[in-house]
Amino acid sequence: MVKMLFSPAHSLILLLLLSFTDAGRILMKIKERVRDLQLQKAKQHLLALTVGGRQPLQHVKEGRIHQQLDHFNRQDVNTFAQRFFVNEAFWQRPDGPVFLFIGGEGPIYEFDVLAGHHVDMAAEHGALLLALEHRFYGDSINPDGLKTENLADLSSQQALADLAVFHQYITQSFNLSRRNTWISFGGSYAGALSAWFRGKFPHLVFGAVASSAPVNSKLDFSAYSDIVGLSLMNEAVGGSEKCLAAVREAFAAVEALMAGNASQVAVDFGCCQIPKEFDDQIELMQNLADIIMGAVQYNEEGVLVSINELCGVMTNQSQASEGEMQAYNRLVKLAQ
Ligand SMILES: *[C@@H]1O[C@H](CO)[C@@H](O)[C@H](O)[C@H]1NC(C)=O
Ligand SMILES: *[C@@H]1O[C@H](CO)[C@@H](O)[C@H](O)[C@H]1NC(C)=O
Ligand SMILES: *[C@@H]1O[C@H](CO)[C@@H](O)[C@H](O)[C@H]1NC(C)=O
Repeated sequence: MVKMLFSPAHSLILLLLLSFTDAGRILMKIKERVRDLQLQKAKQHLLALTVGGRQPLQHVKEGRIHQQLDHFNRQDVNTFAQRFFVNEAFWQRPDGPVFLFIGGEGPIYEFDVLAGHHVDMAAEHGALLLALEHRFYGDSINPDGLKTENLADLSSQQALADLAVFHQYITQSFNLSRRNTWISFGGSYAGALSAWFRGKFPHLVFGAVASSAPVNSKLDFSAYSDIVGLSLMNEAVGGSEKCLAAVREAFAAVEALMAGNASQVAVDFGCCQIPKEFDDQIELMQNLADIIMGAVQYNEEGVLVSINELCGVMTNQSQASEGEMQAYNRLVKLAQ
């Protein structure tokens, strides 16, 4: 494993893969910032509506549903309180459709029933808007929920069962019937949940929107890195073959230097300790890969460098005199 991982030919792909599956810390931070930015935009949008005489926030209700911690074991009587939001502002009673926004690996917000494409469509179609938080995230967690022994109940199967129970709960509390067409929405992991929800319970949900949804589980998810590589080459977004080549070269150089002089790597990338241990080396490589992945995944969201800027640094011609370590030095610049 160690040997394979550090063979330069495969290193970038494998490291990017590891980074994705292990969700590097930098990428998590980037994701949080993107979410914050989206929330800010949503807030501004709402403020504009409020100034215009509408009070959209007043329409949002927060609720809790008591769910079984383990839907597949009737002897386990433990429950947790799962949070949801309802926005009835657009709903055409009694037969209007139901748009369900499925929460993923993070908290939900009131804005999930107030802003976004699904909300625009709800306004258009007279839909009841719902958002259900994923178990073990946000407020939908018991005080001891994050203890290792309790994490067994954190699974997509349990989350799908939560959705089915929630469907029943809402149907009862809003007197819904078969005439109320349910459509589920989700992105990324929640997008997969949205598709699986429809696949598993076709009688409950008529249609599912699954954005960027990795619906097929894969142990070797190198397809993700392939897309990152293709984006770095894509001239329409400021990429080039040179850019991808420079990124590959830089990562190979970091690995080589880590084996040669780890102290130097620590100095260059501002590590808090010298990455001598294998785990620390992986951690560093993950975080460096996160910069590349984050730039591609959130290109021009205004949170991190864009692909155009990243490639500008990685192929900067005005630093031509640095010889062998050129790509490495550019990556150092990028990380700074
Ligand atoms: C649902 O229907 C029952 C019986 O017809 C009625 O009492 C109740 O107010 C209705 N609830 C809602 C939320 O419309
Ligand atoms: C390794 O890097 C450190 C920190 O830059 C430097 O002081 C040291 O001379 C280097 N060692 C070798 C063998 O190049
Ligand atoms: C390229 O390098 C020069 C010299 O270090 C610097 O002034 C310039 O900002 C760099 N350009 C980019 C896009 O990083």
